[in-house]
Amino acid sequence: MLDEKILSVLRNNTESYVSGEDLSKTAGVSRTAVWKHIEKLRRDGYEIEASPHVGYRLISIPDLLTADEIRWNLKTKILGRSVISYKKVDSTNTVACQLAEKGVKEGTVIIAEEQAKGKGRQGRVWVSPSKGGVYMSCILKPAIAPNEISKITLLAAVAVTKSIRSVTGLGAMIKWPNDILVNHKKVCGILTEMKAEQDRVDFIVIGIGINVNTPRRYIPKGASSLKEEMRALRKSEDVPRVELVRSVLETLESEYTMLNKNGFNDIIEEWKRYSAMLGARVKVVLPGRAFEGQVHNIDDRGELVIRTESGMLERISSGDILMVR
Ligand code: BTN
Repeated sequence: MLDEKILSVLRNNTESYVSGEDLSKTAGVSRTAVWKHIEKLRRDGYEIEASPHVGYRLISIPDLLTADEIRWNLKTKILGRSVISYKKVDSTNTVACQLAEKGVKEGTVIIAEEQAKGKGRQGRVWVSPSKGGVYMSCILKPAIAPNEISKITLLAAVAVTKSIRSVTGLGAMIKWPNDILVNHKKVCGILTEMKAEQDRVDFIVIGIGINVNTPRRYIPKGASSLKEEMRALRKSEDVPRVELVRSVLETLESEYTMLNKNGFNDIIEEWKRYSAMLGARVKVVLPGRAFEGQVHNIDDRGELVIRTESGMLERISSGDILMVR
């Protein structure tokens, strides 16, 4: 809170120095306490110039996924109004589920620099090294039936795709249900978990993992990071993670509002626009069987419709889809 107050004054005055006295008045603490907080901010990576008898001036801000950084200038009403950030957790989804059980507000976001036990879909591990990736989980409480959860999953994929496109300029595409690809390589995965009664959802946790500036050695074969794909465009600097997270929260919220207001059709249309799959030949791997076919459509419940070799239409609501080239 104190950090937030001091930072906020410094941010609003980057052209000039702010005196220690003014900072201590605004924050309601002694000048020694101000100085200690400035030192802490510096240790966290903020570059703050100090001029004797004049004051302090903010020079640069680190790209850290802290609650203060994410909430700064965040234009949302629900998502991210409360952000809980960690240096390291087992899994942001696990923390989010525990907090949601305890009744935290809709829109609460859990984010970490590193995960020790990052969870992927279908029991897989999501490798989550420190510095470079985005690991975040958003708690939503939509008024939908449990069998409509895939709508939220697809909506999240649309929101993240749009954000990656707007922040990086990369041509991100969606692979059903919610992998995000750039140049056919996976850069983001989404894991949705929920608690529900028979006819209503108590809460949904949308877990989003993005390989942003993640070093190559941590990225599985066939996957990539945003930074690596930017390099192909001769852009070598890091992708700004805080800006990306803010954009994801803002876009997710506007898609969520659209779903609540206009229903699912508009989301499906957007999903189709960014789909890397319509018309593609795929192999569908389900528990106990696998078959090949061509992606025909996505229906109004978010299920993938495949035309099989024999011409039949099969609807898939979960499973692994491999693109056949
Ligand atoms: C996938 O397998 O494609 C889904 C990966 C989801 C990873 C994210 S990272 C943040 C959140 N916390 C987790 O443990 N998993 C999700």
